[in-house]
Amino acid sequence: MPKTARVTAGELRRMKRRGERVVMITAYDFPSARLVDEAGVTAILVGDTLGMVVLGYDTTVPVTMDEMVHHTKAVMRGATRALVVADLPFMSYQAGPDDALRNAARFLKEAGAQAVKLEGGVAVAGTVRTLVEAGIPVMGHIGLTPQSLHQLGGYKVQGKTAKAAVRLLDDAIALEQAGAFAVVLELVPAPLAGLISKRLAIPTIGIGAGAGCDGQVQVLHDLVGLFDDFVPKHTRRYAEAGTAIRDAVAGYAADVRAGRFPTEEQSFPMDERVLAELVEDPARDPAPAPAGRTRRFLHRSFPTPPR
Ligand code: KIV
Repeated sequence: MPKTARVTAGELRRMKRRGERVVMITAYDFPSARLVDEAGVTAILVGDTLGMVVLGYDTTVPVTMDEMVHHTKAVMRGATRALVVADLPFMSYQAGPDDALRNAARFLKEAGAQAVKLEGGVAVAGTVRTLVEAGIPVMGHIGLTPQSLHQLGGYKVQGKTAKAAVRLLDDAIALEQAGAFAVVLELVPAPLAGLISKRLAIPTIGIGAGAGCDGQVQVLHDLVGLFDDFVPKHTRRYAEAGTAIRDAVAGYAADVRAGRFPTEEQSFPMDERVLAELVEDPARDPAPAPAGRTRRFLHRSFPTPPR
């Protein structure tokens, strides 16, 4: 069977030129990657939100490179068509381009990802350039940058003042000039995100940044009801998978406790003659052997357990 070609980073730029919207969603493992790939998304982000929605951390800050590489490998096994972008976690690139290059290369060489994402604008433009010159496609991420949560003082909308808005535009332009192929705009007022999108030749991918972006990204677990710690305003529930899973497991537990599971349907029969060889035939000798006497079972003799 011919291998389906994967979407490339360059294709996202061409989509912007054609006026086609980019659909990106997170995935963190083999089954979720397979499902979102089959659903036909353009790109999969192995986001460092992994830390919160899969690993149970309070923020994305503790996520390590090893955790990201491990999960990116699983995503690559599940997705065959979408562009796979791996998120550089906190302190894997902030110390400088050498760290960034070494860690970004791990995503491509060890995990097979096609591109990386990092947070920041003007401050990381030099690092972005280094990665791009090394042949690594880079997606930028500005606005609310969760790895700087402690500095930003919470999950707040960014760029609300004129000064902050101009800074965001400068960040976006710096990323484009450094060679980024796309930029995520997170928690940015919709009109500002629209202006930035018009100013850039590369696609903007919004999350809480309105409909004027060139594409959208969402966290899978928010969209399908698998993460309830908080529900961001920018998301929409398309399924209640958490409720469905909880109900399914409760049904299974009730059936096991009541002896309704498994039935013959979930069990495997055995040749009666072989069985007769292995145990005393209850039809010939229906009375159980008295306690203390032995019964033959699997060609061995066992004392009958006392009742
Ligand atoms: O880590 C992530 O999932 C992200 C998205 C929220 C854009 O960076």
